Amino acid sequence: MGVKLEYLNVNKKPLKGRDFLTLADYTQEEIYYLLYLADDLKRKKQNGYVYEPLKGKTLGMIFEKSSTRTRISFEAGIYQLGGTGLFLNANDLQLGRGEEVSDTAKILSGYLDGVMIRTYSQEMVTELAENATIPVINGLTDLYHPCQVLADLQTIKEVKGSLENIKMAYIGDGNNMVHSLMFAAAIMGMEFTAATPPEYEPDAAVTEKAEKLAEVNNGKIQVVHDPADAVHEADVVYTDVWASMGQEAEQAKREQDFAGFQVDGKLLELAKPDVTFMHCLPAHRGEEVTADVIDGKHSVVFQQAENRLHAQKALMVALMR
Ligand code: CP
Ligand code: NVA
Repeated sequence: MGVKLEYLNVNKKPLKGRDFLTLADYTQEEIYYLLYLADDLKRKKQNGYVYEPLKGKTLGMIFEKSSTRTRISFEAGIYQLGGTGLFLNANDLQLGRGEEVSDTAKILSGYLDGVMIRTYSQEMVTELAENATIPVINGLTDLYHPCQVLADLQTIKEVKGSLENIKMAYIGDGNNMVHSLMFAAAIMGMEFTAATPPEYEPDAAVTEKAEKLAEVNNGKIQVVHDPADAVHEADVVYTDVWASMGQEAEQAKREQDFAGFQVDGKLLELAKPDVTFMHCLPAHRGEEVTADVIDGKHSVVFQQAENRLHAQKALMVALMR
């Protein structure tokens, strides 16, 4: 069931001060709250309404991997909310020279009001959060990409009208994107099928956790190896790059191993006629998706990218206000 903003009782466990490390730490009710807040902030921005609840607050943004969307949407977002964003290249911090994560967390807590981090290891993000007294936001690790998926949920809700009775198919690598999408589908009660090559399945522990979450929320999680099986009658078809950041050396091998896992017009025809095509971007046209699909009438990839701004502004307002 969709939940209306006025029925939400997020006071059970206030969002203020919380970390955002994985979607699995958030309930369906809390995610709906963030989505309604994101819609409200999007409307305010479209109407030119200046809303600065984070005046005087500073968000640190640590990057150990490249970024276009995450960096710019967080930086623009915190400015729009009245605050300041600090871009911190991990290599320029003492962290990059071996200063302990726990010490870094304590130092940052003395200067900042929140910290967003994009790095390799999820454990490092957890350690940062455990030692910080300010909210820590996961801006992508090898394991998860929860900020992207929050924006994706906002986008699906806009395009389909609600998150109810949604059948989502994911085609490609069992990576950070599929892990966060599985949690989102499980918590929001969607039917989710990932099709990956056999040796590229999602992490078994993440899948098991998603299956458990799905049981209590009327969702369904499946992993198959035939893209056609996954896409059959789907409302949403999602894909991501075959080689993620940090896997560049495996590019050639992966191109071979993922043959047959490209989302093209023929595959999309197996989905519902009004199917929505999604991709977190950056995309490689001619690899995981053909140009006619990503640039075609079913694609909402730029709407997803724009919603990163609104969804993350909602997150910052909720956690840092
Ligand atoms: N989708 C996404 O996170 O993009 P960036 O890597 O450009 O931040
Ligand atoms: N799976 C991709 C997502 C990029 C936003 C990566 O980790 O590189």
